[in-house]
Amino acid sequence: MTSPAPRHVVLAYSGGLDTSVAIRWIHEKYGSEVTALSVDVGQEGELTGALDRARRNGAREARLVDAKETFVTEFLWPALAANALYQGVYPLSTALARPLIARTLAETAIALGADAVAHGCTGKGNDQVRFDVALQTLAPQLTILAPVREWNMNREDEIRYAKDHGVEIRATTESPYSVDENLWGRSIEGGRLEDPDAPPPEEIFDWTGHPSDWPKSPEELEVEFEEGIPVAVGGKRLGPVDLVREMNRRAGRHGVGRIDHVEDRVVGIKSRENYECPGAVALLEAHRALETLVLPRELQQFKAGVDRRFADLVYEGGWFGPLRAALSAFVDATQSVVTGVVTLRLFQGSVRAVGRRSEFSLLSPELATYGTADRFPHEYAVGFIHLYGLPNRLAHAKGAKSKAERGRRGSAAREVPGAA
Ligand code: ARG
Repeated sequence: MTSPAPRHVVLAYSGGLDTSVAIRWIHEKYGSEVTALSVDVGQEGELTGALDRARRNGAREARLVDAKETFVTEFLWPALAANALYQGVYPLSTALARPLIARTLAETAIALGADAVAHGCTGKGNDQVRFDVALQTLAPQLTILAPVREWNMNREDEIRYAKDHGVEIRATTESPYSVDENLWGRSIEGGRLEDPDAPPPEEIFDWTGHPSDWPKSPEELEVEFEEGIPVAVGGKRLGPVDLVREMNRRAGRHGVGRIDHVEDRVVGIKSRENYECPGAVALLEAHRALETLVLPRELQQFKAGVDRRFADLVYEGGWFGPLRAALSAFVDATQSVVTGVVTLRLFQGSVRAVGRRSEFSLLSPELATYGTADRFPHEYAVGFIHLYGLPNRLAHAKGAKSKAERGRRGSAAREVPGAA
């Protein structure tokens, strides 16, 4: 099935090599008009220069949408409430931004009356899955173009294409790494990092300083939560974007949040990725610590399964699906008591919760103490244990009996080899 060439394409534009070349490539291949759209999710580096470059490269329009606050409140806070870590280590920084960028792309295309959208994802990453699934869900009427997946050019080919077609690319030499950045962290891959046995060079890190600059003594930092949402750091109330930035700065100074991971991608391959997520790692540690104080055991156990599924689903691009909505509804229902203050200790690349307090604390001092104030009903413990251990005693006795029987049958068989 061949569909007619799109008239007007809105391209998710980062200012990097891929999407700079894509502006021209789409225009030449399809004759379409291209609008470049940059979505600000807190990536550092100048976006305004990139927009001017997009216009010079032939975009009919280049626009910037500031989505930072939406990113934090609609995507990062629900992920934090779900303690979201893919494979137990990756705070999903890149994965969480994709559905928001896709939604903004769809909204912009619809508002401009465009008939197609485009993104710069390759054909073997997770991001193409996240973009395509989100776009197909939210705006099925739009054609999706993925030039990088289609054109089969490597980096050198792209640079040559840019030269031959007069496409202006960033003045600075392109880094040997592929870096994706937003408020929740940085993802770094490629170059020397492709060898999973090669330790990450210091040059890939940007938010965590050099280890020789990490403070020589630990710092304690209080983080305050209201219903699962962080609202203050070090006693100072901050808005969502400022709070995440402050955590990146405070935890990054101590080298917190470096993650070196061999991860399993949606498309089935393993790949080596490095992350730098100081604020996310510190906030996740604090949130998890507060939950241990205020959530009853059964709820905490069950929620751990929901949290895990939530993380997998975000990784796989399921943000706008009904399962994610349902899991988030469950998580929300658990957060009304996640209010209180956690003290984090930051030191030499690590973060640990060393204190936690809450008006909803379920830790009863009279029940827990070994001191004279003890009110725990010790006399009930014996009866409780007797019944609690009953299933094990029953199973063990039965198991021992059947083992003995199997043993007898076994030896009987041995006694009459080849009897027949
Ligand atoms: N592996 C991460 C994910 O799938 C990050 C992908 C982008 N990484 C990069 N270095 N550009 O979420």
